[in-house]
Amino acid sequence: QTGPLPPSAPPAPDPEQPLGQFVPVEGQVPTTPHLAPTPPQPLVLPTQDAQQPVAMVPAPREGEPVTAPAATGGEHAPDVVQQAEDLQTRAADQEEQEEESTAAVAEAAQPTGPAAPGYADAEREAVLKVMRERRDIRNGFRSDPIPHEVLLRVLEAAHTAPSVGHSQPWDFVVIRSAETRRTMHELAMRQREAYAKSLPKGRAKQFKELKIEAILDTPVNIVVTADPTRGGRHTLGRYTQPQMAPYSSALAVENLWLAARAEGLGVGWVSFFDEREMVRALGLPEHLEVVAYLCVGYVDEFPDEPELMQAGWSKRRPLSWVVHEETYGRRALPGEEPHDLLAETVAQIRPLDAKALGEAWERQKRMTKPPGALGMLEIISAQLSGLSRQCPPPIPEPAAVAIFAGDHGVHAQGVTPWPQEVTAQMVANFLGGGAVCNAFANQVGAEVCVVDVGVAADLPATPGLLPRKIRGGTSDMTTGPAMTREEAKAAIEVGIETARDLVAAGNKALLTGEMGIANTTASAALIAVFTGADPAEVTGRGTGINDETLARKTEVVRRALDFHQPDPADPIGVLAAIGGFEHAAMVGLLLGGASLRTPVILDGVSAGAAALVARAIAPEVLAACIAGHRSAEPGHVAALNKLGLRPLVDLDLRLGEGTGALLALPLVQSTARAMHEVATFDSAGVTEK
Ligand SMILES: Cc1cc2nc3c(=O)[nH]c(=O)nc-3n(C[C@H](O)[C@H](O)[C@H](O)COP(=O)(O)O)c2cc1C
Repeated sequence: QTGPLPPSAPPAPDPEQPLGQFVPVEGQVPTTPHLAPTPPQPLVLPTQDAQQPVAMVPAPREGEPVTAPAATGGEHAPDVVQQAEDLQTRAADQEEQEEESTAAVAEAAQPTGPAAPGYADAEREAVLKVMRERRDIRNGFRSDPIPHEVLLRVLEAAHTAPSVGHSQPWDFVVIRSAETRRTMHELAMRQREAYAKSLPKGRAKQFKELKIEAILDTPVNIVVTADPTRGGRHTLGRYTQPQMAPYSSALAVENLWLAARAEGLGVGWVSFFDEREMVRALGLPEHLEVVAYLCVGYVDEFPDEPELMQAGWSKRRPLSWVVHEETYGRRALPGEEPHDLLAETVAQIRPLDAKALGEAWERQKRMTKPPGALGMLEIISAQLSGLSRQCPPPIPEPAAVAIFAGDHGVHAQGVTPWPQEVTAQMVANFLGGGAVCNAFANQVGAEVCVVDVGVAADLPATPGLLPRKIRGGTSDMTTGPAMTREEAKAAIEVGIETARDLVAAGNKALLTGEMGIANTTASAALIAVFTGADPAEVTGRGTGINDETLARKTEVVRRALDFHQPDPADPIGVLAAIGGFEHAAMVGLLLGGASLRTPVILDGVSAGAAALVARAIAPEVLAACIAGHRSAEPGHVAALNKLGLRPLVDLDLRLGEGTGALLALPLVQSTARAMHEVATFDSAGVTEK
């Protein structure tokens, strides 16, 4: 090994405008809202049920201001009434109580002298700097050897870590042998392949480009173990929580990592191992747990951001998402008032970016094809540009469909021949990979994420299932509110959190899916409220019911509306009265997606109902919405017309589960890809007409 030693401390790395409006034109079916199509001819769907025609507006001319995405036309925009109680999580009396209890605590701990001093500013900054600038490194390692005294300092730092009951359960096995490293590399490669096979296609493509270890590229590998038997039988703090032993070893890893960074040493943590196989391959005592396999060496540079972020694999979650005050869900940074998740999300929703939108129209004109020849897809590409504020827009891949599952009290009214248990059974089917949504998701390379937001059965913990049950099914909307206002809000928050989670995990498109026997009844009721249509016009056959059941279902919707007299200006009140948990969660997914400037592809009638609610809460939410398909349900047409959304696929599907949205995903991806890959007239030397 040659080459100079790197220095021990390397230098530190150092208008929106509203958009196009609809101009209603007789007989036309809406195009995607707030976007100006370039094709000279409007794209027309069968006009049946087109209750509220919405027309297209011409593409903005140069220098012309682009106006607001008044999604469905100003005269229909509901007056949003945010109820004060929706936006406040603390009641005045609760605050008083808190003040009293804080006073009591303060009394109990009266300071008697000066507190122990902290570090001076420069020292504190050095500590924080090493934490900020520590990186997991897999690329750019050098073969320079690590001097013994440097490695010793790093190991000493690791050994000063806190540990449960001061049991110090760690050991450090320092490996330099090329042969051992080759063996470990082979083991990791096998697990890498197994992991790659488990990924949805959209993810697997991205993963192929990632380096996940540097076992052979680093002069030193360190295995950090935890001995769960160390410290005797009565280790303090491990009595009920045996996992504290490996946690303690993980803290030693962090110390090691930070000390290494200060020495200018890069560290890469490899966890692509079958632990038992590894213990055997390394000849470790069988009772040890392997906590970490670390690759250590000098590096060319430390990236500013995690390599996974740079590769677009993940995003950093803001601190404000993860700090709660007093109780989980009351998010507040120290010194700030708790913020309401819904209000915060709504406040972050913005219209499409006019500049990126203008660039998209320009680019579409310069691409080697007749202007407008990609029809509706040109409109979607412009929407994606305006949403992402980038032209060309990011290709919406990988994508994930969130299937929200819930049951409905209105099932008791005989609105469907399917028993309620089918909801839970289908959830199991989604998780087992046996449903249509799974086949379609496999085909288009998307991830399936199932969220129990209100299934009337206890679902066992299963990979891929997010347990977020608000209650085991809504109440019967014909005899009382389906949910309380608080429940409706909590379900919306589940949707917002799901959007945050999927986007932070690197998804660049979200798709709505839902499962809930009897949920088309709730969908019809919601659509009737927000479109003003008669229940008979928007109540459909759902999973396929006979005339008699359809008549009963329509009557049930009518009765529920008569009973509640829901006010569309109070969207959360409407949801609580006649909605479903999965509708509320989809509302949250739409709002969450829009706030994160991530496109959301809507599935069928229930997604349409949810989009109406979301629009009533935040009209600009439509900037992120793409109608995946048009279902066979009459209510869906009414919803799409009201929303001013033109569906991409129209195949008489009436399944739900996100199936229509999944089919539309490749269309949305294709339009973004065309923006990236299609040559322009100038670049290709093609003569324009
Ligand atoms: C417990 C643990 C296991 C990890 N396993 C791997 C791994 O097998 N392969 C890999 O490339 N990175 C692995 N990492 C590194 C993470 O990807 C990395 O910490 C994360 O992306 C954040 O980047 P940063 O450490 O540079 O801030 C692991 C990190 C931790 C904490």
